[in-house]
Parts: sequence; C-alpha cells; structure tokens
Amino acid sequence: MSALSSLFGPGTEVAAAEARLVDEQLYPEELGPIRGAVRSRRAEFGMGRVCARQALGRVGIAGGPIIPRRGRDPLWPEGSTGSISHALGHCAVVVGRRPPLRSVGLDVEVLRPVGEELASVVLTERERARIGASDRLRLDQIVLTVFCAKEAFYKCQYPVTETFLEFHDVEVKIFDDERRFVARVLAPPARVAEARATELTGRIAYDGDRVFCGVELRDR
Ligand SMILES: CC(C)(COP(=O)(O)OP(=O)(O)OC[C@H]1O[C@@H](n2cnc3c(N)ncnc32)[C@H](O)[C@@H]1OP(=O)(O)O)[C@@H](O)C(=O)NCCC(=O)NCCS
Repeated sequence: MSALSSLFGPGTEVAAAEARLVDEQLYPEELGPIRGAVRSRRAEFGMGRVCARQALGRVGIAGGPIIPRRGRDPLWPEGSTGSISHALGHCAVVVGRRPPLRSVGLDVEVLRPVGEELASVVLTERERARIGASDRLRLDQIVLTVFCAKEAFYKCQYPVTETFLEFHDVEVKIFDDERRFVARVLAPPARVAEARATELTGRIAYDGDRVFCGVELRDR
C-alpha cells in the first residue's frame, strides 16, 4: 500500500503524478483560473484535475470540470468530494463519494530543514511544550508533520464550513505510533461546530523525503 492510499478509508480512491502541462486535457472553464499563470502552476493545477478525474472514474463518478470556488477549494462533481495537494511538482489527489463522505483533506510536504520562524507560525505554546527538547533533525520533521496535519485538517473542514482558520486556532496531537493525529479547533466558530468538524482524527504516512496527512469527515 502506498503512503498516499494508506491515509484514507473505504470508498475513497487516490491518484498521483508528476506535474506536466496538460492544458489540452482541461475543460475551458478550468483554463480560465490559470490563464496568465506561470508554467509550473498551470502544470500542477492541470495535473491535479487529470488525476482527480482518473480517481473519480474509479468511484463511478463521470468526470467534468473541477473549478475553484471563491475560497479556492475545488467544486467537485455532484455526488463526490475530494482534495488535492502539490509538493515540488508532485500532484496527489483523493476523492470519494458524498455521502458517505462529507469532506476530505489531503496535504503533502517535503521534509526539509525549517527555521524557527516556521516553527513559531505553526506551533502553539502547548504543542511546542509537548515536543520538548528534540534534536534539530527530529524537530524539523515534527514541525513539518504538524504543519501538514493542520493543512489537511483545514482543507477538510473548509468546504463544509467556509471558515478561515489560523495555525494557532488548531491544535494537533500526534499519537505515539506517529501514524495518526487528532486536530482540534480551540475556540470553534459556530459553523465549524455545526458541521461537527471541531475535532477530527487524521492519518500520517512518510515516504522518502515526504510526509502525507489525510483527514476525513464522514456522515455519522
Ligand atoms: C489551502 C491551503 C491550505 C493550501 O495548502 P498548500 O500547502 O499551500 O498547497 P497544496 O498544494 O497542498 O494545496 C493546494 C490545493 O488545495 C486546494 N485548496 C485551496 N484552497 C482550499 C480550501 N480553502 N479548502 C480546501 N482545499 C483548498 C486546491 O485544490 C489547491 O490546488 P489547486 O489550486 O491546484 O486546485 C493554503 O493555501 C491556505 O489557504 N492556507 C490558509 C489557511 C491555513 O493554512 N490555516 C492554517 C491551518 S489550520
């Protein structure tokens, strides 16, 4: 099982590919948002759509344009939901049928040395205290894993709540097995609470120099 596919539950499909220009495979409505964008951006945006349509086909949903909504989250075809992430020219996508899925979030980050600045943007005081005195190498991995987990959580909650959250609005606790985490909104805005997206469990996987995080919101 790949790192990507290990993140999500039954009824979901994933796809991944290196980004390259695929303008000829896009719908006219999809070309609008990237008109004038640099080549690398057109490539990642387009390949994300191509991967998404492959995965949608495997859950039995016919492809169609996937255009960004006002909050830049993709508008998925009727009866589906999904999430897209890009990291250094690598596109990864998850999709699933809605219902039973209500929303899903995926994020991929390249593991790299990070400075104190990113750590203080991403981590709350309590998260920092929990990490304790890790060595530098390990600290970089933890900061990027928490970053990735918060981005995946954000992408999962946004399509149902349309609520912007800062990094310090959300706290992540990584389980001892380092394969799962809980993300919790500290003072949940009404729309987050109503959507029952205040606290969600997610999964983590490492593959070479990348960390992958996935979060699902399912009907109960
Ligand atoms: C949306 C966001 C999380 C994307 O993360 P990123 O690591 O920069 O970029 P990624 O390549 O992983 O993801 C980009 C994709 O996310 C999706 N996306 C963009 N905005 C989104 C949103 N509001 N909700 C869900 N998905 C969104 C899009 O599919 C986008 O790709 P596309 O434009 O090619 O379609 C980030 O740009 C953002 O808006 N952050 C502000 C909120 C935040 O980070 N808060 C702290 C965490 S709680």
